[in-house]
Amino acid sequence: MNEVLQEKKIIDVEQIRSQFPILNRKVNGQPLVYLDNAATTQKPQAVLDAIQKYYSEINANIHRGVHTLSQEATDAYEYSRKTIADFINAKSSEIIFTRGTTESINLVASCFGKKFVNAGDEILVTEMEHHSNIVPWQLMCEERKAVLKVIPVTDSGELMLDELTKLLSSKTKLLALTHVSNTLGTVNDVKEIISLAHKNGTAILIDGAQAIAHTQVDVQELDCDFYCFSGHKMYGPTGIGILFGKEKFLNEFPPYQGGGGMIKEVSFAKTTYADSPMKFEAGTPNIEGGIVLGEAVKWMKNVGVKNIAEHEHELLHYAIAQLKTIDGVRIIGEAKNHASAVSFLVGTNHPYDTGVILDKLGIAVRTGHHCNQPLMKRFNIPGTVRASFAVYNANEEVDKLIEGVKRAKKMLS
Ligand SMILES: Cc1ncc(COP(=O)(O)O)c(C=O)c1O
Repeated sequence: MNEVLQEKKIIDVEQIRSQFPILNRKVNGQPLVYLDNAATTQKPQAVLDAIQKYYSEINANIHRGVHTLSQEATDAYEYSRKTIADFINAKSSEIIFTRGTTESINLVASCFGKKFVNAGDEILVTEMEHHSNIVPWQLMCEERKAVLKVIPVTDSGELMLDELTKLLSSKTKLLALTHVSNTLGTVNDVKEIISLAHKNGTAILIDGAQAIAHTQVDVQELDCDFYCFSGHKMYGPTGIGILFGKEKFLNEFPPYQGGGGMIKEVSFAKTTYADSPMKFEAGTPNIEGGIVLGEAVKWMKNVGVKNIAEHEHELLHYAIAQLKTIDGVRIIGEAKNHASAVSFLVGTNHPYDTGVILDKLGIAVRTGHHCNQPLMKRFNIPGTVRASFAVYNANEEVDKLIEGVKRAKKMLS
């Protein structure tokens, strides 16, 4: 490859790492190797500075104040909404600040259910969904007397698309599926699935919690009806997330919660509601989180989402290849299109035991069911060890993981 091109695409890991103060710390006397990025990512200095700046310079409540601080805070909050809208190619009015992916999905389940779901209707999810994209639908189905149906997963961790086609019927009101599986790392062909759903007259929600930090998302190109993600998984703060919804749905939806900020006029006889997004943001929101999430998005754009994806892809495939050299390692999920996370088991060792030994070596991985209990049942396993990558991870960290897994295997045998 042309050297200039190669130089352009490769992330300068040392330079990136220097922006993350936490990566300097030691755990159990060892340099931290943080490979639990699917659970939450670490925060760059730009994000930490933005938190400090918000509270030390502009902290005030938003939207109703005439004083300078309130106006500055409102401007920063709305500017951030615009930054996030641009990032996924949406309009500001289609971007609702929530507490995270979980709340975004609950909002849609609640409002969509009340407006569009009747007894006997069906909601489709997949066998690889996070509990956050199962339980809200179960609750709604129970309330509306609707039926939850499930698209199964193959042995390699891919969706059975022929089953999806069979399951779609005139009763299917909504299909909710993950863009990238948090356990298997499978990247679903959401564009194709969205088109299939729409041809059937079915609305579609994409859980983007594991995709947003690893791939460029364009909601117009995808043509999804809803797209959800969490700030803390994309270098931003916890307690803030996004729901993108198409205007045609948001305009029809009833409010999610009642309170200040979501009304046009209140009287005891009748209350009228604000337009989206305010209709869905009752009460004082997470102002700091909203503003700082915009900074995290700017930081990602500066690094380049394509560069991030490319770097992580290299790490992931290096890790998979190395893991496969260890006798007895079984990779769970080998989809053709795979991103950001690898799950595995080491012989008959319990994932927890491997995780504890890795922690003693300073290596942070996640062990357990990863909020995917039905998926664990599908594979007939108690859980997995999951290593998940971010832009600041280095090949040497993969080497340490591999050494650690070998050591754990020896200790546990
Ligand atoms: C695929 C997926 N969906 C939803 C969630 C829930 O995200 P949050 O806890 O930030 O609401 C997660 C979190 O791990 C996830 O991985």
